[in-house]
Amino acid sequence: MEQVKFLLEEKDMPRAWYNIVPDLGGLSLPVLHPATGRPVGPDDLKPIFPMALIAQEVSGETYIDIPEEVLEVYLGWRPTPLVRARRLEKALGTPARIYFKHEGVSPTGSHKPNTAVAQAYYNRAEGVKKLTTETGAGQWGSALSFACNVFDLECKVYMVKVSFEQKPYRRIMMETWGASVIPSPSTETRAGRKILEEVPETTGSLGIAISEAVEDAVASDVTKYSLGSVLNHVLIHQTIIGLEAKKQMEKAGDFPDIVIGCVGGGSNFAGLALPFLKDKLDGRDLRAVAVEPTACPTLTRGIFSYDFGDAAGMTPLLPMFTLGHKFVPPAIHAGGLRYHGDSPLLSELVRRGLVEARAYGQVEVFDAAVTFARAEGILPAPETAHAIKAAVDEALEAKEKGEERVILFNLSGHGHFDLAAYDAYLRGDLVDEPLAEDALRRAMEDLKDLPRVE
Ligand SMILES: Cc1ncc(COP(=O)(O)O)c(C=O)c1O
Repeated sequence: MEQVKFLLEEKDMPRAWYNIVPDLGGLSLPVLHPATGRPVGPDDLKPIFPMALIAQEVSGETYIDIPEEVLEVYLGWRPTPLVRARRLEKALGTPARIYFKHEGVSPTGSHKPNTAVAQAYYNRAEGVKKLTTETGAGQWGSALSFACNVFDLECKVYMVKVSFEQKPYRRIMMETWGASVIPSPSTETRAGRKILEEVPETTGSLGIAISEAVEDAVASDVTKYSLGSVLNHVLIHQTIIGLEAKKQMEKAGDFPDIVIGCVGGGSNFAGLALPFLKDKLDGRDLRAVAVEPTACPTLTRGIFSYDFGDAAGMTPLLPMFTLGHKFVPPAIHAGGLRYHGDSPLLSELVRRGLVEARAYGQVEVFDAAVTFARAEGILPAPETAHAIKAAVDEALEAKEKGEERVILFNLSGHGHFDLAAYDAYLRGDLVDEPLAEDALRRAMEDLKDLPRVE
């Protein structure tokens, strides 16, 4: 019988996360304070994050030990399986070997607890009592609710309104772990009230929800804010995915020619890809492909600029590919990919030519999701389906060229709470919402007064 799952024992789980920044010789551009225009220091970030995470954000260490208490929680579902998608290969008739790292087996159904658990742990260790955050699809909010419950912290989640309405089951899941969940924009914050006055019918966005969560956190000494993507410390925590996958690929006797992940802010893509990019930096041939929706095409159509991480302009200025911080993407089903910017680290990797980016529309993405579900049995999250579409395209290209390509993608989450999206697809009601050129130009106008990068 042919092997399908490549498993690690608990004792083989990595004990340290990987930080690629030293191997890159540092990042080219600092994060800036919006008022002074100078690089932010630890004191600027202290009202929002605990010191341990601020230190990781600027760490020069290549490996960062994972605290024992975090490892113990990880053991609930890690190491996650690496699966050879043999049935998908057969369905596509491809000579390519397709592998996926299955992060959908976590308690909340995605890769997000890898950082949520770490962040809750460090906050708790520094005496924080409550965390606030935003969530799109509800995957990140669920992960933080779960982690806060483990470490006995209060949790308040601002959930993007369109997802709050489309996905009541995610809200119930968060509430079950003890979190309070509020549709964003809300009347609870200045930022939320302002946006509701300006655009009462807004669907909300991750950028708006971040403004609300940050405003809420800075109002109290014992409350901090937690971000599920974008920042270096989040990407560092997610590297456990790629570190495990490298060991598992070795067990499979293979090494990927191409590593693929979907991109909202960049954390699951980076989590899988960064440990492999270390090999690329050492001279190994490898392509890393970041996949985004055509409705929110930050890497493929955005510009590289300093921009705020949130809609109200409360966060530091990040050097990143962006569509402008006030950009509200169409309400596609992949809620977790509706973010106006990208991780500065991922943006730098794209600029340096180490990572390629491509974008797909949601109808072709769901075609791939259903092909995958019918072959492998797993219903992927709509976000994840973007990576699957790229993996399928690569496998079909390999077939056309008669190549034995080795493809590895991140199955960042399952789609069990996204059945309304599958329903729309199966009924033929799903439509593509590519971003119109004039909407893009309008969104970018918000960048004109911010520091430019050539
Ligand atoms: C299943 C899943 N995949 C991917 C993402 C995108 O986030 P990131 O780019 O940080 O991995 C999300 C975000 O909510 C998600 O829920």
